[in-house]
Amino acid sequence: MNKAHELLTSFKARFGTGASVYRAPGRVNLIGEHTDYNEGFVLPAAIGFSCWVGIAPRSDRKLIVYSENFREAHETTWDALAARGSGHWWDYPLGVAWALQEAGYRLRGADIYIAGDVPLGAGLSSSAAIEVSTGYALLSAAGHAVDRTTLALLCQRAENEFVGMRCGIMDQFVSCHGQAGHALMIDCRSLEYRVLRLPAQVRLVICNTMVKHKLQAGEYNVRRAECEEAVPKLSNAVPTIRSLRDVSLEQLSQNQSLLSETLFRRCRHIVSENERVRQVAELFEQGKTQGLWELMAASHQSMRDDYEISCRELDAMVEIATRQRGVYGARMTGGGFGGCTINFVDVEHAPEFQRRVSAEYESAIGLRPDIYICEASQGAELVETTAENLPKVTR
Ligand code: GLA
Repeated sequence: MNKAHELLTSFKARFGTGASVYRAPGRVNLIGEHTDYNEGFVLPAAIGFSCWVGIAPRSDRKLIVYSENFREAHETTWDALAARGSGHWWDYPLGVAWALQEAGYRLRGADIYIAGDVPLGAGLSSSAAIEVSTGYALLSAAGHAVDRTTLALLCQRAENEFVGMRCGIMDQFVSCHGQAGHALMIDCRSLEYRVLRLPAQVRLVICNTMVKHKLQAGEYNVRRAECEEAVPKLSNAVPTIRSLRDVSLEQLSQNQSLLSETLFRRCRHIVSENERVRQVAELFEQGKTQGLWELMAASHQSMRDDYEISCRELDAMVEIATRQRGVYGARMTGGGFGGCTINFVDVEHAPEFQRRVSAEYESAIGLRPDIYICEASQGAELVETTAENLPKVTR
C-alpha cells in the first residue's frame, strides 16, 4: 500500500470520513548556506522524504490536527489562534493556519492528519515540509488556488513569527517549487529561479551525522543578527548596500577596518558563498563536474572557519567522504551545528561510498550514521483524494 492510501485508511479510522492527501518534500541544499536571508543565492533540491497531510473540511470553525509521528492530537478553532506558538509540534501546522488567516484568506474548519518521513532535526527541512503540506491542504480544502511563491512566503512568515526561527526563504521555496531530477538556483531577493538538471552520473548522497541540530536554540538567529549588524557599518563604503548580497569580495577586503574581526569573517563567508553558488550553477548548466570539488571544499571550510557553524562530527564526515572513490565534492549542508553533509558521488560508486563512509564514521565517532542515496524530487502536490464536492470559496 502506498503512503497516500495508508494515510487515507488511517484518516478514516480516526475521523470517520474520506480526505484529500497532499505531500510536500524536505530538501537538501547543494550549496549556498545562510545566503538566503542575505538576499543572496542558493542551490537546493527537493528530496524523496516528505510530509503527507490528509484533510477534510468541517462544518464548524474547529481545527483538529493529529500527528502520526508524535501520536498526539491537538484541537483549536480559527478564532482562538494566537499570534505566537507554544513550543509544540503543532506550532508548525497552526503557524501556517495563522499566517494564511493573517493574509486574509477565508478558510474552513478541518480535520487534519499529518505523517512524515523527513528525519527530524537532521537539517533536511522537516519543518518546511510540514508547513508547506499543511498550507497547501488548508488552501485547497477551502477552494483556493495555490500560488506557490505566496505559499512559500506565508510558510516562512509562520516560522519567523509564530515559531520564532528567523529562517530565510530557501526551504519553503524549494518544497513548493522543487522539480524531479533538478536543483533550483534561487535568487532570494527577486525570488526568480532557474531549474538546473543535475549531471546524469551524479547521485546526491546525504550523510546524517546523527547529531541533532537545534536551530531554534539561538545560534542561527545570532548569525542572522550579525549579518544585519554588518550592513549599516559597510554603508559608507558601499552606498547602494541593502544586504550583504550587494557587496563584492574586493569591497569587503578594502573595508575590513569598518568591521570587527568576527563580523568580517561572517561577511566573508556570505560574500564568497554567493560567488560559489554562481559557479556551481554554471557547472551544472554545462553538465560539468570538473571544479565541483574545490567549490564544495571551499564552502565547507568557509562555514567551519568563518561562519563557525560546523562541528566535529560534520568535519569528520566530510573528511571521510573526501577520501572515497567516485566523489565529486562534499560539504556540510543546512543550518549547521549537526545534521547532514551533502556529497556528489558517481552513480557507480554510490553503494560502495555508503558502506565505507558508514563504517569509517562509526569507528571514528562512535555513532552509526544514516546515509541516503537520493534523487531530486517534485515539490508540493495533491496526491490522492476521496473527499467529494470540495466547496468553492473565494477570497
Ligand atoms: C535553515 C534555514 C534556511 C537557510 C539554511 C542555511 O535551513 O531554514 O532558510 O538559512 O538554514 O542555509
